[in-house]
Amino acid sequence: MLNLLLVGGSGFIGKLLLNNLNSDSYSIQVVGRKEFANEELLRLAIVKADVIINLAGASITKRWTKVYKMVLLSSRIEPINRIASIIKDLQCYNKILINASAIGVYPENLASSEESTQLGNDFMANLVLQWENAVLNNKDLFAAVYILRFGVVFDESGGFLAKLKPSFRFGLGAVFGNKNAYISFISSYDLVSAIDFIIKNKPSYLIYNLVAPLPITVKVFANLYAQRFHMPRLFYFPSWVFKWIFGEAAQALLSSKIVYPVSLLESGFIFKYGSFDSYINYLKNVRKV
Ligand SMILES: NC(=O)c1ccc[n+]([C@@H]2O[C@H](COP(=O)([O-])OP(=O)(O)OC[C@H]3O[C@@H](n4cnc5c(N)ncnc54)[C@H](OP(=O)(O)O)[C@@H]3O)[C@@H](O)[C@H]2O)c1
Repeated sequence: MLNLLLVGGSGFIGKLLLNNLNSDSYSIQVVGRKEFANEELLRLAIVKADVIINLAGASITKRWTKVYKMVLLSSRIEPINRIASIIKDLQCYNKILINASAIGVYPENLASSEESTQLGNDFMANLVLQWENAVLNNKDLFAAVYILRFGVVFDESGGFLAKLKPSFRFGLGAVFGNKNAYISFISSYDLVSAIDFIIKNKPSYLIYNLVAPLPITVKVFANLYAQRFHMPRLFYFPSWVFKWIFGEAAQALLSSKIVYPVSLLESGFIFKYGSFDSYINYLKNVRKV
């Protein structure tokens, strides 16, 4: 049995992993922000871990004020540096590090994979690059390092779908922004199995896009998600409404990303929900509304 430590594990993705990774294969410890502040507790958790999954980072959906932009960066860089300094101090260099990242690093509307050399140049892309650089600077302290660039994670218990579900459920499904923008998503099922796959198979790539092979447009998403509730889809709100509510953060939430999971596919990972149609069929058939 492998000992897994989820740093930033009290959030949406941490809970998905805790609830869905097979308990016959993994013993899981969770560290949220409170536990992270306790040096002794963190050291003990790190000593025990075979695999550290670092998900820590302040939410990007709040208004990006000057001060909050600094929080977005420091809440991602400091946890990595803190883990690294404990590893150095304890001289335990046998751990695997799996670190969260985001497809926000890629430019808008350009088909991108892990091999792409053209990256975005907005605030989000720069944030992600600094986040990944902090991981890469400490790479030699670990037996192996994997960087996971998450797409929009689909699960009705949290994140994007949980925010939209109430309005769609009552036939008021509202989607913001450009109908032709692309959403590169991954189902929670495939996210958990991709992480399980990486831990068990130790594939050779460093960076993995955790996205389904078929991105969808906002228009297709809205029409299919409305069908899940047997309701019409009624509204598109123009981008300016979203920008008015979220300020600069809207840039990240509305941006069109066409991203492909080349590292996962070439490593032999098989998606269960490779398209949004298949995921909607699952929601329609298996999950209660
Ligand atoms: N969900 C997605 O669709 C998605 C897509 C792309 C990238 N990501 C990235 O993946 C990571 C995990 O996502 P998520 O959806 O699980 O996020 P989440 O629900 O917001 O959880 C974030 C976690 O980070 C912790 N945290 C926040 N600020 C911290 C700080 N200053 N120091 C240490 N820990 C801190 C939180 O602790 P508390 O619970 O104590 O606040 C929580 O455990 C995030 O970095 C996110 O940016 C997520």
